[in-house]
Amino acid sequence: MSKTYEVALLPGDGTGPEVIDEGVKVLKAAAKEHNFKFNFTNYDLGGKRYLKTGEILPKSVIEEFKKFHAMYLGAIGHPDVKPGLLEKGILLKLRFELDQYINLRPVKLYPNVETPLKNKKPEDINMVIIRENTEGLYTGSGGFLRKDTSQEVAIQESINTRFGVERCIRYAFEFTKKRSKNNKLTLCGKTNVLTYASDLWQRTFDDVAKEYTKINGDYVNVDAACMWLVKNPEWFDVIVTDNLFGDIITDLAAMIQGGMGVAAGGNINPKGVSMFEPMGGSAPKYTGMNAINPIAAINAGAMMLETIGEFGAAKDVDNAVIKALESGKIRSMSAGEMGLSTTQVGDLIASYI
Ligand code: IPM
Ligand code: MN
Repeated sequence: MSKTYEVALLPGDGTGPEVIDEGVKVLKAAAKEHNFKFNFTNYDLGGKRYLKTGEILPKSVIEEFKKFHAMYLGAIGHPDVKPGLLEKGILLKLRFELDQYINLRPVKLYPNVETPLKNKKPEDINMVIIRENTEGLYTGSGGFLRKDTSQEVAIQESINTRFGVERCIRYAFEFTKKRSKNNKLTLCGKTNVLTYASDLWQRTFDDVAKEYTKINGDYVNVDAACMWLVKNPEWFDVIVTDNLFGDIITDLAAMIQGGMGVAAGGNINPKGVSMFEPMGGSAPKYTGMNAINPIAAINAGAMMLETIGEFGAAKDVDNAVIKALESGKIRSMSAGEMGLSTTQVGDLIASYI
């Protein structure tokens, strides 16, 4: 009997369903080749459902997700819904409730993909950013005092626990060891100003580093990281950082790898269910036009394969993406400028599996 993986599909809003369709197409092709199966269960979470029923994310659905091998998300966000409501109510809620405490963001420049960085080649841009995903400034801790008066006070606290920081840093050291590329792990913080939060990160990093004598630990302030990611991306192998710094530098990193059309991420709970997503949003402008780039979603699918332990299939998908790009048939990574439709790009990649 071949193995069957249960996957929750959350195509979501806008172009989410279009890119997820292509991801599923490629995942199915890889599964066939490697003799396992997927059983996909669809969940219609997102702006459309909210506008129809007022429901954002029922508690019972969160419980259901825990039974899956993985979750595969398209995009969340709807032009008719107040910004933040769905992001907080679905995406962040899932990360927190399912304890997906790692946000994993490979940053890899593929062949024939244009980077805005002059003279940088695929061998220069190949790193992984590990972002803490359940603490920091994202916990919603804080509040208002004297709201809507001229003496209003707004407090937003960054929560950093030894437990949360340590499990993230341990994951990063272990990841760097397994990746076995340059064996370099860079902690990104702001020790020169955040003398409590970044200090905890630095001390924890130094403690854990003692157990990984073959990994070269390094440190960079987040502002400087933004400079070096643009000027010398080849300096980086694996970066570990907190939730907000990670949010910011991964968007910068997405641009140097060719943009939202290729950037994928994983929300990882190493002992539970993880969720994979293309980094681009719902792109309302391109919805239903068969014009959005599905490569980011396909790359997210490859990350999912790797996480469930189907390493051969993951490698095949990655190679198929590379071959499709090397074929020169995809003219650009930007929506509407690919020279091919969303489905044609999916077909092309699936054909190389
Ligand atoms: C991301 C996104 C989210 C975040 C938003 C949509 C809440 O930007 O996954 O990086 O800030 O984490
Ligand atoms: Mn972000």
